[in-house]
Amino acid sequence: MTERRDFDAAALNWDEKPRRVKLAAEVAEAIQDKIPLKKEWDALDFGCGTGLVTLQLAPVLRSITGTDSSSGMIDTLNNKIQTYGFSNVLTVLCDLEKGDLPSGRFHLITSSMTLHHIKEIVPLLKSLKTLLHPGGWIALADLEFEGGSFHDDPTGVFHHGFSTEELAEMLAKAGYSSISINTAATIVKGDQTFPVLLATAQVE
Ligand SMILES: C[S@@+](CC[C@H](N)C(=O)[O-])C[C@H]1O[C@@H](n2cnc3c(N)ncnc32)[C@H](O)[C@@H]1O
Repeated sequence: MTERRDFDAAALNWDEKPRRVKLAAEVAEAIQDKIPLKKEWDALDFGCGTGLVTLQLAPVLRSITGTDSSSGMIDTLNNKIQTYGFSNVLTVLCDLEKGDLPSGRFHLITSSMTLHHIKEIVPLLKSLKTLLHPGGWIALADLEFEGGSFHDDPTGVFHHGFSTEELAEMLAKAGYSSISINTAATIVKGDQTFPVLLATAQVE
């Protein structure tokens, strides 16, 4: 089984790839198209990285907490929060696969391009469910199954994307309902294109 990836090393230059910035904007827009976000809502963005999606959603929410297991990513996001004066963005350094969870309850949990780095997804989805208010939403964006051609370095890649059926099954197994999955964006990398799925679901 492949080992964990060192995201600390990638954090400083993460935002320099235009395709990452573009994808985050498209994912944030797709989330807003599918979920009626409210200014009274508190959200959690897990595997937030440098906050590319987190900071896009912050203006339409009461608060958003970015959580990540990489201190390099969290440091970079903290610098952006200070530089641009985001007063409603919080950060928590925690490894969700070790069972660590941020404190608080949320109306929305988001994640973009993190799921394929999580070995055991259903247990994580189950524990995240305990953080949602009744009726709360989860929105997961990740690669559609790509057979292993997306990552040049496979370290820390536990899934080569997901089929619609797989995502739906994992969410159902973890106890979510109102599951809906569609293509939210397309990543162009070299001469290849990779569709990105957005799965949304709710807790009762
Ligand atoms: C491909 S990056 C995506 C970052 C960001 N969401 C974006 O769209 O730019 C995946 C992120 O997930 C984080 N991550 C991976 N495993 C994690 C875990 N077990 N707990 C928390 N964060 C994790 C990594 O540190 C990294 O920042």
